Amino acid sequence: MIDIRTYIDQLDWQREPRGLYAPIEYALAGGGKRLRPTLALIGCAICGGKEQDAVAAALALEVFHNFTLLHDDVMDHASVRRGRPSVNKQFGQNAAILSGDEMLIEAYKLLHSYPSEQLAKLLPVFNKMASEVCEGQQYDMDFETRAEEEVTMEDYMEMIRLKTSVLLAAALQMGAIIGGGTDEQQRRLYEIGVRLGLAFQIQDDLLDVYGDERTFGKAIGGDIREGKKTFLYLAARAKATEEEKKMLRGKDVREVTLLYNRLCAREEAEQKIAELTAQALDLLAVFPEGEAKQRLEALAKQLSDRQS
Ligand code: IPE
Ligand code: IPE
Ligand code: MG
Ligand code: MG
Ligand code: MG
Repeated sequence: MIDIRTYIDQLDWQREPRGLYAPIEYALAGGGKRLRPTLALIGCAICGGKEQDAVAAALALEVFHNFTLLHDDVMDHASVRRGRPSVNKQFGQNAAILSGDEMLIEAYKLLHSYPSEQLAKLLPVFNKMASEVCEGQQYDMDFETRAEEEVTMEDYMEMIRLKTSVLLAAALQMGAIIGGGTDEQQRRLYEIGVRLGLAFQIQDDLLDVYGDERTFGKAIGGDIREGKKTFLYLAARAKATEEEKKMLRGKDVREVTLLYNRLCAREEAEQKIAELTAQALDLLAVFPEGEAKQRLEALAKQLSDRQS
C-alpha cells in the first residue's frame, strides 16, 4: 500500500520567483487528509491495477484540490486552514489567486505523464469534474445572497454534489481507468464517490459549527458568519417559526448555533450522513473481496464520523 504523502513531499517547488512557488510549497506541506489521492489509488487497486501507476493522477488530484482551497479561502474570507494561517492570510490575496492558478496548471502537467491513449480517457473525466467544481463554487456564493426561501434542500444537495462530490468521484474513476476497470466498474466507483462526497460535505458543514477548531483546523462559525446555505441552516429553517427564521438570517454564531440545537439540525445531518454512507457501502458490495475493498469500506466509515 503506497503512502501518497511521500510523493507529495517529493514534489519540487524550489523555483523562481519565490512569490509564486513558496505559497504552493506552503499549501502542500500543510498536511490534510490526502483523501482524493488515496481514493485514486484505491480506485486503481480495486479494479486490479498497480497502485504505482495511479500515483501521478493522485498527485494531480491533490494539487488540484489544494488549488481549490486557495481560491475558496479568498472567496470565503477564511484566515485559518489546517491549523495555520491560510495562504491568503500568510501571503496575501494576490498570492492565493496566482499561486492557485499555477497549481491548476501543475495538475495538468502531472496528468501529462500518462501515455496519450490513457490521457485521452483521463482528461475528459478530469475536465468535466473541474468545470463542475467551479459551478458548485458559484452556486455556493450565489446562495449566500439569494432570498432565503428560494434555496431548497434539493438545490443544496446539487450544489455540494458539484463543489465537493465530483472530485472524490473523479478520483475513484480516474484510478479505475488507470487500473483497467470496466465501464460498469468506473460508473459504480464514480457513484460511490458521489455518495461519499455528499456525506463528506455535510460533515464539513457540521464541523464548521460543532467542531473543535484545533482538531478541525479551520475557524468555527465561518459558514454562519458568511451566510452560507448549509445543511444545518436548511434543516433548521424547515422547522423554524417566522421569528426563528429571522434569527437564522442574523449570522450571530452563538444565537444561530443555539437555534440549530433547538431545531435538531445536527441530528438530521448525522442521519443523512449515515444514509449516504450506507448507500456507498451498498454500491461497493459487488466488488471482489480484497485489501482495496476493505480499505475503501474502512475509509467510508471513518469519514462519516471524522472530526478533522
Ligand atoms: C476541504 O477538504 C474542502 C471540502 C470539500 C470540505 P478536506 O477536508 O479534504 O481538506 P484537507 O485536504 O483534508 O485539508
Ligand atoms: C468546499 O467548501 C468546496 C471547495 C473548496 C471546492 P467549503 O468552503 O465548505 O470548504 P472549507 O470548509 O473552507 O474547507
Ligand atoms: Mg471555505
Ligand atoms: Mg467555500
Ligand atoms: Mg466548510
